[in-house]
This record gives sequence, structure tokens and C-alpha cells, in this order.
Amino acid sequence: MKRLLIVSLFVSLKLSAQDATISVDVSKPTAPVSPDLHGIFFEEISHGGEGGLYAELIQNRGFEESRIPPGCSLDSGWLSPPATPHYGTGKVIDWKMKWEPVNQWPAWSLQTEGKSKASISLDIQHPLNNATPQSLKVVIESLGKDQRVSVVNEGFWGIRVDEGAEYNLTFYTRTDNYRAPVEAYLIGSDKKVLATSILKTIAGKDWMKHTCVLKATDADEKAKFFLTFTGVGTVWIDFVSLFPKKTFKSRPNGMRPELANYLAELKPAFIRWPGGCFVEGISTESAPNWKKSLGPIEERPGTYSPWGYWSSDGIGYHEFLQFCEDIHSDAMYVFNCGVSCEMRSGVFLSDEKVPGILADILDGIEYAIGPVNSKWGALRAKNGHPAPFPLKYVEVGNEQIGERYGKRFNIFYKAIKEKYPQLEILAAMGIAHLDKRTVQSITKMDIADEHAYKGIYWPMINYDWYDKYERKDFKLYVGEYACNSGVGNGNMMAALNDATFILGMEKNSDMITMSSYAPLLENVNDTDWPVNLIRFNNSKSFARISYYAIKMLNENKATTNLNTAVELKKQDDKSVGYPGKIGLSTWDTQAEFKDIEITQANKVVYKSDFNNHKSDWDLKGGKWSVNDGALAQTIDGAWPMAVLKDLNLDTYVLKLKARKTGGPNAFMFPLAIKDDSNYLRVHIGAWWNRVCAFEMISDGADAMVTQPVNLKEPIETNRWYAVEIHVNKSSIECFLDGTLLMTYNEPPRFFSIAGKDEKTGELVIKIVNAKAQVTTTKIQLNNALSLLPEGRAITLSANESTDENSFDNPTQFTPKEEVLADISNDFEYTCKPWSITILRIKAK
Ligand code: AHR
Repeated sequence: MKRLLIVSLFVSLKLSAQDATISVDVSKPTAPVSPDLHGIFFEEISHGGEGGLYAELIQNRGFEESRIPPGCSLDSGWLSPPATPHYGTGKVIDWKMKWEPVNQWPAWSLQTEGKSKASISLDIQHPLNNATPQSLKVVIESLGKDQRVSVVNEGFWGIRVDEGAEYNLTFYTRTDNYRAPVEAYLIGSDKKVLATSILKTIAGKDWMKHTCVLKATDADEKAKFFLTFTGVGTVWIDFVSLFPKKTFKSRPNGMRPELANYLAELKPAFIRWPGGCFVEGISTESAPNWKKSLGPIEERPGTYSPWGYWSSDGIGYHEFLQFCEDIHSDAMYVFNCGVSCEMRSGVFLSDEKVPGILADILDGIEYAIGPVNSKWGALRAKNGHPAPFPLKYVEVGNEQIGERYGKRFNIFYKAIKEKYPQLEILAAMGIAHLDKRTVQSITKMDIADEHAYKGIYWPMINYDWYDKYERKDFKLYVGEYACNSGVGNGNMMAALNDATFILGMEKNSDMITMSSYAPLLENVNDTDWPVNLIRFNNSKSFARISYYAIKMLNENKATTNLNTAVELKKQDDKSVGYPGKIGLSTWDTQAEFKDIEITQANKVVYKSDFNNHKSDWDLKGGKWSVNDGALAQTIDGAWPMAVLKDLNLDTYVLKLKARKTGGPNAFMFPLAIKDDSNYLRVHIGAWWNRVCAFEMISDGADAMVTQPVNLKEPIETNRWYAVEIHVNKSSIECFLDGTLLMTYNEPPRFFSIAGKDEKTGELVIKIVNAKAQVTTTKIQLNNALSLLPEGRAITLSANESTDENSFDNPTQFTPKEEVLADISNDFEYTCKPWSITILRIKAK
């Protein structure tokens, strides 16, 4: 963003026939833009914290990772929460998850030299403390001459060691007949010793704490940590922690600097923490408890993340609040309201548990903002922070929903508001948009938190989604959003969709006052969720293009929106169209297809004859046969496909007859088939034969691209229906028995909003051009005072919609800033292909 280039190339006063016009009425302010609009949401998922943001280098430092989460039981490798009725269905759940730690001491191993004899085992006798019952017992039976035995930790898929860097090592031991020294090493992947420290004696029946500094004389990205025993005897070890001295803001027990910097540089208005499903737990007993995340780190029991691993809670409640303060963000604490994740155990604790939960949350608030002479405020001061933390929001549960939740919310709202009227209290809304039943059962809330995970093009097709929301007496927070299917691991197309979604939120910022992308962080060695904002391993990281889109849109927020109209002259995008093969398909349903005719420009290009030419079709999955001249798919299962070979069409009309012969759904027609994992799908009688819809399948992931249309009547079994699908250049129409059922209209790929930044006196125009071509744009600023001829253009663009940043090229696609010249009330700007642009224009 630093280099300024004159963009006269893209700006021309001579107005040619433009592809688009953006007209801004500078005299007509519309919605105010909330300064709190863009925040971040942190959750312990995909090792975002443990082995990620949290700078600890030893994985499983307390040997607790094989501990069964509270309230759960283990049976033949499956972990089950208590068998209680699910609050949605009332039936006892049978949800369980695979419990598969590699062994009892994940990330640790034993290494013996020569004929030395030694063993390791987990021990729960004489725990270091009650909160962390497990330790590792190392029995060294015999050692050959000059031979040693080591316990080795692999870190979080390797330990990055930097030459000259210092690492604080802490560990605890107790011993039985062990009198020799212990050596600590960092050893590189080529077995080179990178750092050493020798502890002369560790002998002692009781737990003893040892600390030393390992100073690296060389570097390696995949080093391991060795604790090496040079004598015989028995040693119990626990809480082995290796912490780089260099952490974010040099905080002890701090954060990995470059990951924390990504977050700080987003300048988030707030941080939502600690989840997500993490807040809910796989059972209510395993849900996080802020009190247990305070104090000495070796005494924190940790929290089992529903994403399948333990968090040591090194980043506990105090560290979270401190981080908010460090990066000047407000804090939003999400607490468990006695309900576990509805996708998992769905436990709803009875009302008599509410006073206890409420007392706990009130204590938590007191810890964050209470006076130093209050019980919890005093503990905060004792923990080094007498001043209150910036806690501004509390959220009652995550993704809870329904009347029962609404009633519970009312209890929390009243009690919290009574004691802390300055706090804003958020209600959850389930996994998607505002839930009517929940809203109706809530007496009063400050902010509703709806979530919006969407597939490719959804934000473009539904650009007016929030325009249509009825304004109520509460604000809206889109607490988790992302375009996360059909976009690879999160490419430029994801960023264009995310940016369009953000424009949709910003123009409705009178109602949507807050938002946060999700998930935030992903250690690529253990991914729990397909598309995440910042990706890293133990040594490298990069932020996806969406990160830079959010950053630039956040940095360039207007204070008030202005009336803006976009006129798109032509939809000439070469990337639009539906070329590819044509198919027939079903989903857990049996069906027959016959009399297939395909015409192109009124010329028949294909007519089916299954009796003689079944081999025209490539039959994949399912069980296909010819029955009375029809091609029949006769078994259950997902997505068997018959694909018409050798015919690759662009625009055409497909006519056929189809009849359902069994199963819950009806027909599917894959079109524009590029390969088995990439095509567009027409559903007739989907989701238990209730609706019709268009879906995009990209890299095997399905995303609905139209709102489902309800079928008047379900598709009848054993009745032939006439299906007609018109594939046009930028739309697809689907007819059933001669009646138009639904249309897929290619969404516009060009969006813009404009606003005024009252702080700087600038006009801010934001443009998304999700096209493979440039869009020459007439920018008309109506009723504007005279403008300075020079402004700024900030552009984030890529060469292809599939482009992504990567470990090897982490900043390949980042915003670039240029001088915008020759500005007038009516000028032309050429938007680059696949681009997000911000124009900043100043009045004289
Ligand atoms: O962000 C990943 C998950 O998505 C969150 O844990 C949950 O709130 C949502 O369903």
C-alpha cells in the first residue's frame, strides 16, 4: 500500500461507452456506518490457539491430552457424552465421536540408545496438582556405556528454532533412585544440536520445578525437544513448557508474534471469544469455565475442544482480556448458558442450574470490569491488572435457538443488565439467519448474533438480503460469516464473495453494527473446517486474500452511507456461461429417465435410444439398467450419475421424461459438468421431495445458489413428468409439465457502495468487480462540492478467480495503493478484472 503510482492509465476524462455507471448522490446520506462493524472471532478450532496463536512450543505439555473429557465415557474407541435427551428432539441422543489419540502420550515418544532399557507410561499417582492428574513416568532400567534415554516432544508438527533466539524451559520432576543429571536439547531434523542445557540434579521424592534458558546456536524449522536421562532410576515428569522469549508485546505466556500481528493489523473493533462450538462443549461438563482458565498455567485443567483436541487454556480469560486491551479492541465474552452443542449432545440443563451459571458469569464480568475492592476485581488486580479490561459485550451461548433458549436468555439478560447496564447483551440465533421463534420468545435483547456461512455466489445473488430485513428494536451482529464452499481453500473468488457480503452489511449498517469472519486461524496440520482466514504451520503463515479484503474494507469505512445506484450496462463476462456435459442423477432415490432430446438453436443434437445406445452414457455409481426403453437408476445412495458422453454444450434445451420409482427425493440433473466434482445441479423434489433448487458443486462441495422453491405437491411415485431445462447464456430455466418451476439468473458480478468519511472529509467508493474482464465505470458524483483532482485508489486484484496467497508467496495478492488522478464530478475509472477497489476522493 506504500508505493504511490499515478493511475492515469485507468482514468480517462474522455468518456467512452462504459460497462457500468456508479451514481452517488452526495447530498443524500442514508444509513450511518457503525464504527464497530468489523471485529474478529477467535475459537479453539484447527489448533488456532493451541499450537497456533498461543506461543507454547511443546504439544501436550501437561500429558493431559489423552484424558477423557469431563462428563464423557469411552467405549471401544468412541467417546460419548451422557445419554440425555436432546433438547430439540426430546429423544436420548446417540451422538458420539471417535476417540483416537495416537497413544496415551500424544506428541511424546521414548528414544533409547544402544541396548539401553527404558519404558514410559502415564501415571495418575501423586499428581502435580488436582487439576492436571496425569504425568509421565519414565523408568530407566539400564544404560550402556555413554548411552542415554530421552523423551522427545515433536512440538506442534515440528518446533521452529531461530538462530540466536532464547527459549524458556520449565518442567517438573519427581524421582525414585535417579541421581544423574538431565539434559535438555533442541535438535534439528538433521540431528544437529541447536541448543543445550544441563541440569546437574533433579533428585527428589516431591515434585520439583526446574527452569533454564535454551539459547539456539543454529536454526531449524522442524526441530524436536529432547529431555535426556543419563542415569538409571525412575523419573516422573510433568508440565514441560518451552516458551520463546519473543512473544507478542513481550508478554510472558504470550502469543506467537506474527499471528497476533495479523489480528492486530486488522484493527478489529472487538474480539468475540472463546467460541463457537467451543463454548458449548460436547457435554455441558466439558464446556469452558473462565475461572479454571486463570492463575498459574500449570494448574489450569484445560478445556476439551469439541473440534477434537485439548486446549491447555494457556490463553485463558485473563490473557484474552489483556490481548483485547493490547490491540485496542473491545472484548466480547461468550458464555455457556447450560446448553451443549445441538449438533453434538444437545443437553439443556434444567432451570434449577441457572442461578449457579448466572452467578458464575456475573463473577466473570466482575473479574473483567469490577472495582478492585470487589472479590473478582481484586483477583484481577492480584493477577497484575488493577484497571478494568475493555469488556463491552457478553453473549448468552453460541448458536442456541428456539423458545426454550429465548426464555433462558430473558433470565440472563435481566440479571446482567440490572448489575451492568453498560454492557451490551447478545442473543444467539442458531447456525443461520435470525430465527423467528427465538426472536419472538425474547423479551429484550441488545444485539442478535446471526451466522452466515455461504457458498460461492450466494452473496452476489442475495446482495439485497439485508435490505429486506425489518428494522427492530435490536441491532444485528453477523458473528460468523464466510463464503466457504466452491472456493477451494479460500481463493480470490472467496474474497470477492466475502467483499460483496461486506458491502451488503455496510450498506445496512444502521441495523448490522458488528460482524466477524469465521473461522479465523488454521494450523494446516490439523484442519477442522474447510476455509479459514489465516493459515499457518509451525514456522510459516499467510493470510488469505479475504483477510486483505476485510482489512482494506475495514480501514476504509465511511461514517455515513450515501445514496448510490449501480447500473450495469452489459453482462459480457467471458467467465459466465454453462458449458460442459449433461447428466441424470438421484439422491437416495430410484428413478427412470426417457425420451431425452437436446436441441441447440432449434436443431436436435441428441435423441436418446437406451435400448440400442445405452453406451452413449457414462454410468457412474448407483445401479443403472434399461427398463422398457427408459434408463433406470434402481438403488439408494448419493449422487449416482449418468453422463452423456462426447457432447459438450453451451446453450441448449434439454427435454425428457422422468419418473420416480422409490425413495425420499426425486430427480437431479447435473449440467455444465467439467468433471465428477465440478458442475451445476438442478434439483427437482429435493430434501424429502419438498423443494426445487439450483446447486453448484465445486471441488466436490455442494452449495445452494438459489433460494429453494417449494413444490406445490411432492413428486408422485410412478408418474411420468415432462422436464424441460433451458440453458441460456446467463440463465437457466427449469419447467415441469410445461410450467416454469424456477430460474437461475446469473448474478451480477459488479457491486458498489459509497459513503462519506466525516473524519477526513473524503468520499469513499467501494467496488467489487467479480469478472474476468475490466469494467470501465462512469463515476457520477451528483451534488458534490468541487473535488480535489487527485485522490487515492486502493486495489486488491488477482489474475484468476482461483488465485490464492500461499506459504511460498504469502503476500502475492495484497492491496496496492495508487494516486487517482483527473477526478471530476463525472469521470471514468477502469476496474481491474477480479478486483476489489476503494476510491477515496476529497472535496476542496
Ligand atoms: O466457525 C466454526 C463453527 O461454526 C463454530 O464453532 C460454530 O459457532 C459454527 O457453527
